Amino acid sequence: MKSTVEQIRQRFDQDVERFSSLETGHTAFVDSLLMLDLITKAAAAVTPHARHLLDIGCGAGNYSLKMLQYLPDLDVTLVDLSQPMLTRAQQRVQAATAGKVAPVQADIRELQIDDNQVDIILAGAVFHHLRGELEWQSVFARCFQILRIGGSLWIADMVDHSPAVLQALMYQRYGDYLVQLRDEAYRDHVYTYIEQEDTPRSLLFQVDLLRQVGFGGVEILHKNACFAAFGAIKT
Ligand SMILES: C[S@@+](CC[C@H](N)C(=O)[O-])C[C@H]1O[C@@H](n2cnc3c(N)ncnc32)[C@H](O)[C@@H]1O
Repeated sequence: MKSTVEQIRQRFDQDVERFSSLETGHTAFVDSLLMLDLITKAAAAVTPHARHLLDIGCGAGNYSLKMLQYLPDLDVTLVDLSQPMLTRAQQRVQAATAGKVAPVQADIRELQIDDNQVDIILAGAVFHHLRGELEWQSVFARCFQILRIGGSLWIADMVDHSPAVLQALMYQRYGDYLVQLRDEAYRDHVYTYIEQEDTPRSLLFQVDLLRQVGFGGVEILHKNACFAAFGAIKT
């Protein structure tokens, strides 16, 4: 049995400090800083006149802070399951923008945001918590509805691979990365919580789904082993 939403919330409630810095929060992600830089630069290039950013699964606000370096003074809506994460994100993000910051404690499956309101959505390391195909479908469709025309959705996340043999190969490469980063015990620790908590889908599944729910410009910015950065435009 995979973790429930409540178990995931409780786990992240305890992990605010680690996620309050990109250096510590994302070490388990291959190429995390590169992917963050790519998606925020891409969002700024595609949507240069953006006024409203929505950061879903915002954690302690790392993605919003990076976005504000390229597009200053945006209004920012922060969404996360974890109230301690949101509180930290609100403090950090409000200090970095003259715009309004609105924290919303919610499950991304139940986004209560009006349609056509947002210019940029960032989803950093959160969609891999979605479970069945219907959940993926409805969350991607909701992101499409929330965006204004010309707005864009950017994702950096763990992905899997549908031929099992390729998944094994990529997972092995990821394990090698974790061992090099620290040691075998750390690799096994990360493998254990992925097994317990995460249900990533392949990059191609997500690209197909983005197109299916209506996005026009869908593009891949980066992929290395089990991690990818990609996005889509509401044309
Ligand atoms: C791996 S952290 C990433 C945080 C942040 N995006 C970053 O990259 O620094 C995932 C975050 O997503 C949140 N989260 C997980 N599942 C969620 C859900 N269903 N709805 C809203 N937030 C969720 C967790 O509470 C956690 O703060």
